[in-house]
Amino acid sequence: MQTKVMPCDEAGIRAAAGLLRCGELVGFPTETVYGLGAAALQPQAVAKIFAAKGRPADNPLIVHIASREMAEPVARFTPLAEKLAARFWPGPLTLVLPRRAVVPDIVTAGLDTVGLRWPSHPAAAAMIAAAGLPVAAPSANRSGRPSPTLARHVLEDLAGRVPLILDAGPVEIGLESTVVDATGALPVLLRPGKITMEELASFCGGCLLPDGKSSERPPAPGMKYRHYAPQGALYLAADYRAAEALRQRLLAADPAPPLMLLSDASANYFRGQGLPEDEILSLGANEAEFAARLFAALREADTRRAGRIICETTKESGLGRAIMNRLAKAAAAATEPGGGVLPSPAAEGKA
Ligand code: TXA
Ligand code: MG
Repeated sequence: MQTKVMPCDEAGIRAAAGLLRCGELVGFPTETVYGLGAAALQPQAVAKIFAAKGRPADNPLIVHIASREMAEPVARFTPLAEKLAARFWPGPLTLVLPRRAVVPDIVTAGLDTVGLRWPSHPAAAAMIAAAGLPVAAPSANRSGRPSPTLARHVLEDLAGRVPLILDAGPVEIGLESTVVDATGALPVLLRPGKITMEELASFCGGCLLPDGKSSERPPAPGMKYRHYAPQGALYLAADYRAAEALRQRLLAADPAPPLMLLSDASANYFRGQGLPEDEILSLGANEAEFAARLFAALREADTRRAGRIICETTKESGLGRAIMNRLAKAAAAATEPGGGVLPSPAAEGKA
């Protein structure tokens, strides 16, 4: 199969909508990451998503809609869901809700709930509206690779496996949507994202975290899979001093320099120490930039065949909770053998 890349103009949207209606796959931009879409109510179309990605069948998909009317036949809205949808849709929030019977088992992996999201990206909304049907879409990466934040990343992973990719340039957020179980009275945060736990808690009067121990299966089945793993060993460092100490330790073991993923301020510190540009990738000046650049940086580390990567971390609240969630998974998955978290020397004396 030849993969065509088109801009998100009228012709692109029309081509994408036509393919979706015919049960074919389309790579498309959203405000979070690029998605790999198929008609959600056509089981044979949805099966193509699992085949193209190499995705385990027990990991359910998010259904994307472009109006509240489109959502009605898919899921039953609880009072909490009504409230959250009114406040955060369209936008980077996925609501896990009781499913209706028309939703094929292959979408929900047999669960009695379905994840639903109304994306705010104009091209995504236009494509779904033009197709006139709900669109099941995971992130458009091969299973186990970082989520795509550029059309080029989708092409890298899925060329020859998808007939069309819509290209709208870089996505805005760079991390996947916040996933919330909205079946009860309070939201349960299943996956942190741009819409933060703090924001949800203040809006709903509380926000719960899943208690993995009390349930037989992980509440968001996707959380248990190997994720975002760069090919090299990934080490996390709390700040530039921890990164420096870690770098010295790694150099002592092997003189090949590690690739450093750093905030702008830390990158400048290391430049001041004479570190060459090709050993540094900048993650920006704030958390929003960090989120937007992280997945591309992990892909770049692979492109450069970095055997060892040191990544500076961020605080674990607000958007930082989502960043740290993805980084922890990437480090855990990539640390065979030897990666790990080194606390800041400044932090070591405390607590
Ligand atoms: O931002 C996003 O959410 C992107 C774009 C394309 O919209 N999509 C995305 O999909 O990240 P995916 O498949 O990569 O991640 C979906 C996550 C998985 O962790 C999955 O287990 C969870 O949502 N999920 C989906 N349906 C669920 C359900 N019924 N109950 C619990 N978790 C669910
Ligand atoms: Mg994904």
